[in-house]
Amino acid sequence: MAAVTINNLSKRYDDNEVMRDINLDIEDGEFVVFVGPSGCGKSTLLRMIAGLEDISAGDLLIGGRRMNEVPAAKRGIAMVFQSYALYPHMTLYDNMAFGLKIAGKSKQEIDQAVQHAARILHIDHLLDRKPRALSGGQRQRVAIGRAITRQPSVFLFDEPLSNLDAALRVKMRLEFSKLHDDLKTTMIYVTHDQIEAMTLADKIVVLSAGRIEQVGSPQQLYHHPANRFVAGFIGSPKMNFIDAKVVGTSAAGALLELTGGGVQLAAVDASSLQLGEQVTLGVRPEHLRIVDTNTTPTLQARFTALELLGDFSYLYAGSEAAEEALILRVSDSLQLASGSIIGITADPERCHLFRSDGSALPRQIATLPVAA
Ligand SMILES: Nc1ncnc2c1ncn2[C@@H]1O[C@H](COP(=O)(O)OP(=O)(O)O)[C@@H](O)[C@H]1O
Ligand SMILES: [Mg+2]
Repeated sequence: MAAVTINNLSKRYDDNEVMRDINLDIEDGEFVVFVGPSGCGKSTLLRMIAGLEDISAGDLLIGGRRMNEVPAAKRGIAMVFQSYALYPHMTLYDNMAFGLKIAGKSKQEIDQAVQHAARILHIDHLLDRKPRALSGGQRQRVAIGRAITRQPSVFLFDEPLSNLDAALRVKMRLEFSKLHDDLKTTMIYVTHDQIEAMTLADKIVVLSAGRIEQVGSPQQLYHHPANRFVAGFIGSPKMNFIDAKVVGTSAAGALLELTGGGVQLAAVDASSLQLGEQVTLGVRPEHLRIVDTNTTPTLQARFTALELLGDFSYLYAGSEAAEEALILRVSDSLQLASGSIIGITADPERCHLFRSDGSALPRQIATLPVAA
């Protein structure tokens, strides 16, 4: 078990700086997920921790020891890749035992380690098989088992579930949680899937274009995204963004005039806002409501489509105030004629507000976890 500390880390390929200003503290035993769109630098950062990529500048500490120049095999880590990288000609047993044999462990030690890992992963009845006789999920378990036998102080996983079908991904996700509960070892897990990040992590690190956008618990990121990027990345379907202008500020928050008409109060700390300032209102699909168009001066939108998901539906509507279609989570019984005009509003406490540079204003919500 070990803590991982990253100070002012950067990565260059020739003149191209692909990661910069990376500062991160991972506590001993924590489950940390790196999440972000493809190409943002998740694998590069993980591979620098693993010792598979040079560190261009900054420091990497594992268990308090500087690791920049320590070879991968001596860092006390084990890594599992998306492609399982099993030896096809070896049985599962030998695949899992291989690293320990190379390390010169005794037959008895190896047997104990392999049996232990196989039991944890429910593959103890398959140890005589070769990889080709296994399903994708079973192969991934062997790759994880091989990592467990090494008893690392930090596990590194790079998109380990991306090659599996949706149902199996959900099942394996739960097993990763259980594995962490059982082993209590520090785990760093890379994914582009925000649902995997939300369900697995103690702490999520959101990356974009080689930088850290925000670090926090799943709840902190959901309720207090630091900027528009994180707000749009965490949550599914993604947050609605609505163009607006500040027309009033008070202790209650910011009063907004929405582009194309309608007003909305957002319960944020409005003290730094200027009257007339252009801002972006953010509301999640689960927090927008349909209201009578006649009652209040509210945002109006044209209904375009309804997606029925059984228990509830997603309603799509077009508005002058939003670049993309607005999405509302609504009751499964809602019926609307195509093209009809609906009024849309949100509780002030459910609103997020972003300045033109993308930064979020602090929200006034006492009951939710405080921002990191
Ligand atoms: N060996 C390399 N040489 C040059 N550029 C690279 C190399 N490996 C990765 N990159 C670049 O670094 C950036 C981050 O890549 P990567 O870490 O693989 O992203 P992710 O895992 O988040 O999809 C990308 O812009 C990618 O093109
Ligand atoms: Mg990657």
